[in-house]
Parts: sequence; C-alpha cells; structure tokens
Amino acid sequence: MPVAPEIRISNARDIDAIVSMYPLAFPDEDLVPVVRQLLAEPELALSLVAIVDDQVVGHVIFTTCAVEGSDLRSSLLAPLAVAPGFQRQGIGSEIVKAGLQRLIDSGVEVAFVLGDPAYYSRFGFVPDSKVQPPYPLPAEWYTAWQSQYLGDASRSYAGKLAVPSQWLDPALWAP
Ligand SMILES: CC(C)(COP(=O)(O)OP(=O)(O)OC[C@H]1O[C@@H](n2cnc3c(N)ncnc32)[C@H](O)[C@@H]1OP(=O)(O)O)[C@@H](O)C(=O)NCCC(=O)NCCS
Repeated sequence: MPVAPEIRISNARDIDAIVSMYPLAFPDEDLVPVVRQLLAEPELALSLVAIVDDQVVGHVIFTTCAVEGSDLRSSLLAPLAVAPGFQRQGIGSEIVKAGLQRLIDSGVEVAFVLGDPAYYSRFGFVPDSKVQPPYPLPAEWYTAWQSQYLGDASRSYAGKLAVPSQWLDPALWAP
C-alpha cells in the first residue's frame, strides 16, 4: 500500500541511518564509500531522504556533472535505495520525482541514470546514445544508460559525461 513519506534534503544527523540502509538494500554491492564521499560534498551532491515515522527509509543522490564540450547543466541520479521493509510502496518513486523537480527548479537541463529501464522509464528516462558514460558499458547494458531532458528541448549536445572524482571508479560502473 502506498505510504506518504516526508521528502527533504539530508543533514549530518541522517548520515548514520543512510549508510546503514545501503548494505540492506544492496547486499552484493558496497556503495557506502561513495555515498559517504558524496555526502561530504553538499555543493556537489543533492541528497534527499524519505522519512516515515521519523525513520530514514529512502535515499537518493543527484551529483552535478558535465557533458564534455558543453555547458549543459547536468546531474547524475545515483545511488537510489529504499529500506527493504519499505520497498514497493511508492517511496522510491516519490523521492526520484522530488529530486527531478528540484533539478528543474534549479535550472538543471539533463539528468542521467544507469539502471533498469523498466523502473526509470516511469519517470521519463529514455536510453541515451548521444552521451557516453564515464566508462564503457557492456553491450547488454546499453539501454540501462538513460537520460531525461529537463530544460529547453532545442539544445543539442553530445559527448562523454564528466563526473567528479567520487565517481571515477570503474567498479561503480561495472555489471
Ligand atoms: C529499486 C528501488 C529503489 C525502488 O524503490 P521502491 O520504493 O521499492 O519502488 P516504488 O514503490 O516507487 O515502485 C515500485 C515499482 O517499481 C518496480 N520495481 C521495484 N524495484 C525494481 C527494480 N529493481 N527494477 C525494476 N522495477 C522495479 C516494482 O515492480 C513496482 O512496479 P509497479 O508500480 O508496476 O507495480 C528499491 O526497490 C530498492 O532500493 N531496491 C534495492 C536497491 C536497488 O535495486 N536499487 C536500484 C536502483 S538502480
């Protein structure tokens, strides 16, 4: 059944709850180091939490990036996690939509994500073959690299996505 979480920007008091949630949501991946590094750079990363009954039950980060050779204002959605006991209740959708609206409000023009198109297409993401991810993806992942134009659709752009150092680890982009 859908729940109505409070969605807000995370603060220092949320960090322990955020990093505790990741190993539960992603038992086979260690995202805690990159999450900690991004949380330490608030000017670079928009970090939102979903709160239910005063508990952090969802988290997402949007990192400021750039398309090489362009001044397009760009953002990378990752990672996204919902606490296992709260999944499939609409919380992931609410927090992603809230983040995309904040990007639009602040003039970001395009958002990128690497993830399951069956999930991200519901927010308007479509496979992107114009902008390359920081590391090459295997062919079976091509449709998982997606973007969504948030700004003036008349702008054209192409190139490689330049990401900040926290994302410069091929393991974060590997199957
Ligand atoms: C993926 C995740 C963030 C989605 O959040 P959520 O709150 O559970 O999702 P929502 O309730 O907003 O949406 C549920 C819908 O998404 C679908 N869905 C959930 N997880 C999915 C996944 N990994 N792939 C594709 N679809 C998924 C459900 O089938 C459901 O579809 P329906 O609306 O047609 O019934 C959450 O399940 C999670 O943290 N999973 C573990 C970590 C993970 O796999 N993260 C991947 C991010 S790329």
